Amino acid sequence: MPDQDPRLSSPSALRNRDPIADLLRHVLPDSGTVLELASGSGEHVIHFARLFPNLIWQPSDPSPEARASIEHWAKTDVMPNVLTPLDIDAAAEIWPVERADAMIAINMVHISPWPATQGLLTSAGQLLPVGGVLVLYGPYRRQGQPLVPSNVEFDASLRARNPAWGIRLLEDVESVAGQSGMALTSVTEMPANNLGVVFTRQ
Ligand SMILES: C[S@@+](CC[C@H](N)C(=O)[O-])C[C@H]1O[C@@H](n2cnc3c(N)ncnc32)[C@H](O)[C@@H]1O
Repeated sequence: MPDQDPRLSSPSALRNRDPIADLLRHVLPDSGTVLELASGSGEHVIHFARLFPNLIWQPSDPSPEARASIEHWAKTDVMPNVLTPLDIDAAAEIWPVERADAMIAINMVHISPWPATQGLLTSAGQLLPVGGVLVLYGPYRRQGQPLVPSNVEFDASLRARNPAWGIRLLEDVESVAGQSGMALTSVTEMPANNLGVVFTRQ
């Protein structure tokens, strides 16, 4: 029997990859290594590696299925600037990387327990150089603003799947970031009521 194709595909990744790339174009460095957390299928990293060939892309995900998918997408598309995916749980105190010039995490903060976001911001503060950015993409609550109905439903469905998941208050994320030397430097409205959030290492 032929081996099953390990490549995963996410329809939302195909929809949001270009708007996210437009945001990245404004904030990523001209060269260096971009570390992606929670790479999932790997379709984002492959797309970005093609659009930004001067950057080295380091994908990661704690899920073995995701890492197999990323590796196979990278092989299929012959991407020389995509490194072998790493096993990184953002909540872990020690990550198997020493530095990164920029970091991205797409749709991770609301689909992982809060300690993963805390770990992400702590490690960003340790791994990034001064001026280095961490770019987050996903839905967020804002202080004093009601969630739009579609995100109220989405939040309920996330919490039903896992009570530790849910749409986070951006101000809470900002507060954790501040403790790690990361300042919120831009918030961009993105399609489907998502935000592109940029933190910069001070
Ligand atoms: C909704 S998927 C997003 C995948 C991809 N970034 C995208 O937007 O298509 C959430 C991803 O977060 C990863 N994840 C969950 N908990 C995590 C953690 N503690 N640290 C890092 N990644 C985590 C999962 O393995 C999964 O691949």
